[in-house]
Amino acid sequence: KKYKLGMIGLGTMGRNLLLNMADKGFSVTGYDKDRKMISKLEEEGKKHNLEGFDDIKSFIASLQTPRTLILLVPAGPIVDSVIAELKPLLSKGDIIIDSGNSHFTDTNRRVDELEKDGLHFFGMGISGGEEGARFGPSMMPGGDKQAYNVVKDVFDAVAAKVGTDPCVTYIGPGASGHFVKMVHNGIEYAIMELIAEVYGILKNGLGYSNSEIYKVFKKWNEGRLQSFLLEITAEIFLFKDTETQNDLLDQIKDEARSKGTGKWTSEVSMELQLPVPTINEAVSNRDLSKFKALRVSLEEAFGKKDTKIDITVDELENAFYFSMISAYAQGMHLLVQASKEYKYDLQLQEIAKIWRGGCIIRAKFLEDIYQAYDKNHSLEHLFGDAGIQNIIKSTLGGTRKSICAAIASGLGIPAFASTLTYFDTITTGRMPSNLIQAQRDFFGAHTFERIDKEGIFHADWNKLS
Ligand code: 6PG
Repeated sequence: KKYKLGMIGLGTMGRNLLLNMADKGFSVTGYDKDRKMISKLEEEGKKHNLEGFDDIKSFIASLQTPRTLILLVPAGPIVDSVIAELKPLLSKGDIIIDSGNSHFTDTNRRVDELEKDGLHFFGMGISGGEEGARFGPSMMPGGDKQAYNVVKDVFDAVAAKVGTDPCVTYIGPGASGHFVKMVHNGIEYAIMELIAEVYGILKNGLGYSNSEIYKVFKKWNEGRLQSFLLEITAEIFLFKDTETQNDLLDQIKDEARSKGTGKWTSEVSMELQLPVPTINEAVSNRDLSKFKALRVSLEEAFGKKDTKIDITVDELENAFYFSMISAYAQGMHLLVQASKEYKYDLQLQEIAKIWRGGCIIRAKFLEDIYQAYDKNHSLEHLFGDAGIQNIIKSTLGGTRKSICAAIASGLGIPAFASTLTYFDTITTGRMPSNLIQAQRDFFGAHTFERIDKEGIFHADWNKLS
């Protein structure tokens, strides 16, 4: 008997995804160098007689052709070394699917390298963490379309479902799958930062206790803000440290770490010259949080502020909803631009559709995004949709009041502040940027264009008349 698919890397994600496939009735197997990982797989997959290999040759020989391999190993050089080990054992038409959070430029390089040997290399983003892999993730595969059809049935079966729709779709050619997953993570960073800033406002602006904050998030999560991130955040505020019985959150250092996908999103946005300020602030603020000693000493130097403010929780809910919409809008805008630049032919409505379930940024609002792009496949920016415009207009009062009050009192809210000012700029027909052009031309003869006639102009600025 030969297996339909083989998993390489039986850590938490690989093992859980394989168990998910076995549950759905597929004959699958796995490979790991570490015997302990194989034992774990065989133990947890007992009822399906799941079998694992620690010998790569017998593992490859056990697969149907064309062979389908999924890599779930740490992103970076390990992916290259696994590919190098596999290559001599594979034949034309075989498919390697890298499901880690690889940088899309690495995926581009690997697609090109393996194409020379007639091998199909897929970059597939998977979101949803451990639970998602086991019971239904959101999956973003990109690569050769025909090769995709070989594995489509497996992906459709294991992905999360919204109604009957599986949260997986063919994303596009080349590294588009990893690109879309990277932007997903950029949005994830932005929403996490916004929620953290809400926490700061509730705690230091309104003086709420952890259990009161739990109630706010829980209530919000029952309405239009319903989302996975709010749901887990609410639960965090209830969690007690088993040793001390104190709220665990209060014992955690205020220094945020990251693995890089948010930073990559910001880097690419700069390269594509497509602003995503809320994501940028989320990345920067994780970095700023690491300067603990400096922050503490500067707090002493400038004095602790009285950050009490007078806003309602409903006004803050408006500010959060508004900013969350903007975070998604910026991410989608980046996808529109990347699709043009890299010729990915991304279907924004399909991407919004598969993000409605399984992934970390799943939220009720993704249905609105899906509807907006489904109505107009060439929508340039989410703010251009009439329905979204109505929602935004209704939130602006509370948004401005909350954000201005927080800033006036000295609360640090970089993501909220830049999100609002991004909105105010993108909705301004004539920006003050004419002055930048005049300055550039003044000191460097960089020329400018005029609104009243065609052409390129230079003025003799030193000769003030
Ligand atoms: C997901 C997550 C997942 C991972 C992040 C964490 O979609 O399931 O995004 O991929 O948890 O990469 O990223 P940081 O460690 O950078 O916060």
